[in-house]
Amino acid sequence: MDKILILDFGSQTTQLIGRRIRELGVYTEIIPGDADLEAILADQDAGYSLRGLILSGSPESVYTPTGPVPDQRIYRCGLPLLGICYGLQRINFDNGGEVKPLPRVEYGGIQVRVRSGWRSREGKGFGKDPRGATRSGAVSRKGPKSGRKMTETFTAWMSHGDVLTKLGPGFVEVGTSETGYPAVVVHREKPWYGLQFHPEVSHCQRGTEILSSFVFGICRCKKGWSMGAHMEAVRTSLAARAGSAPVLLLISGGVDSTVAAALLLKTLDPDQVHLMYIDTGLMRQGETGQVRAALEQLGARHLHIIMAEEEFLSALRGKENPEEKRKTIGDLFIRIQERELQGLGLPEDYFLAQGTLYTDLIESGKGIGKKAHVIKSHHNVGSPLVEAKRREGRIIEPLDRLYKDEVRALGRLLGISPTVIDRHPFPGPGLGVRILGEVTKEKCDILRKADAIFMEELKNRRLYDRIWQAFAVLLPIRSVGVAGDVRRYSWVLALRAITSTDGMTADVYPFPPQDLLEISTRITNTVKDIGRVTYDISSKPPATIEWE
Ligand code: XMP
Repeated sequence: MDKILILDFGSQTTQLIGRRIRELGVYTEIIPGDADLEAILADQDAGYSLRGLILSGSPESVYTPTGPVPDQRIYRCGLPLLGICYGLQRINFDNGGEVKPLPRVEYGGIQVRVRSGWRSREGKGFGKDPRGATRSGAVSRKGPKSGRKMTETFTAWMSHGDVLTKLGPGFVEVGTSETGYPAVVVHREKPWYGLQFHPEVSHCQRGTEILSSFVFGICRCKKGWSMGAHMEAVRTSLAARAGSAPVLLLISGGVDSTVAAALLLKTLDPDQVHLMYIDTGLMRQGETGQVRAALEQLGARHLHIIMAEEEFLSALRGKENPEEKRKTIGDLFIRIQERELQGLGLPEDYFLAQGTLYTDLIESGKGIGKKAHVIKSHHNVGSPLVEAKRREGRIIEPLDRLYKDEVRALGRLLGISPTVIDRHPFPGPGLGVRILGEVTKEKCDILRKADAIFMEELKNRRLYDRIWQAFAVLLPIRSVGVAGDVRRYSWVLALRAITSTDGMTADVYPFPPQDLLEISTRITNTVKDIGRVTYDISSKPPATIEWE
């Protein structure tokens, strides 16, 4: 299968590059930007043909000592290279060009003017609609003949504080931003291409066309990536790695760990598979029962459900700071896991499995790009147990190359019920980050009731599947109201509903007002401790999806 590898220098949009190319039907992987050439070429024998490299963006600058540097042998290995933003600056800088800071960061939609020569000069169809591309790279195209001077303009999406001030020998500027800087650069002899903008971002006009031109026109990839093929590859490697050793999977109850469980149970002997789930008391209404039913239906034989509500609530007592709460929950989770594990009596050589996704790795700054910036501490990727097992080479993360929607597609292939698969994401720290301020049992019960009504209403109104994630948040504020003739002093609830593709960015779901009015009325009429409901109208960025 053909593959494109992305060298990650820590940009927040690196994984979008991978996603976009997979959507085109070509397999991608992301590896640290400073990986050595041996690691880059490592999978060649495992049925993958590496056809090209993409150098990602980065929050760093090429001219500072902290700017991540690729193995310089990539410039001699003959593979086509596409540099995006920092990636372009890197290719230029490493090959005799100059990069300097801009007086002011450029961000958002900026017009780019490209010469028709950006296609014809190379004769390789860069920037050309790839639908006419063939394996040999020839592109059947209508339109201007090679060599005729023409320009075209589109709105590209930029986010950069540095710019190319001198091109290295052999590089040619074929596209220029409206602000006068090189926006598209190609090399005269080598298959090297660079974009100052981000074609992977959906707001970038012609972004998909540009990426597909690189992938099909220049790298000559054949479409080969499909979820069915990927599932078979993962199952084969899973069976080979685990052998007959026990595998312990840490289950959160969400889509990811349920799909990971299905994969293990359908690939290995179910007696080999131990599933551990901790009910922190910070779960949604009826959640533990649903998790049990789903896993039993998948054939789980060793399901260890640990009820730990009291331990979590007492650890959280008096704590109001969001990061402190997250840390408390994360640390206790790990302690309980380790304690309960002792009780299972598994042999030393057991494998630890978890439903880590590509997004978990990148958002935690773990595993993929060493330079990725941590947004919030996620407790599900980095416990000492996980790290120890990783060091021993005994960690199994069968979804760690998949994006959320791909995991859902895999779950469907594995026959998991749609009610589980299409469930909205739920954060590891659960209601702990949705009850602002101190978490108590009473508040958990109030929030659970309100959240369940919100979800039921969304389903009844057939809105649930149109929304990427929705939930209720209990605010640490009480306000005055009336119930009958009696004055009421009760909690304020915020509803949040967003649309997104991967949780990295999010837009507010534009509810028809009538829906919001009716949902609010039902909540305040049913949950007596809630007297007022608000709707959160913040997108991400600048807000995050969760409130803490
Ligand atoms: P934020 O709030 O960072 O959330 O915009 C992005 C997505 O991640 C989920 N989230 C978490 N998931 N452990 C998880 O497994 C966590 O600690 C965690 N924090 C946030 C959030 O619900 C949203 O889908």
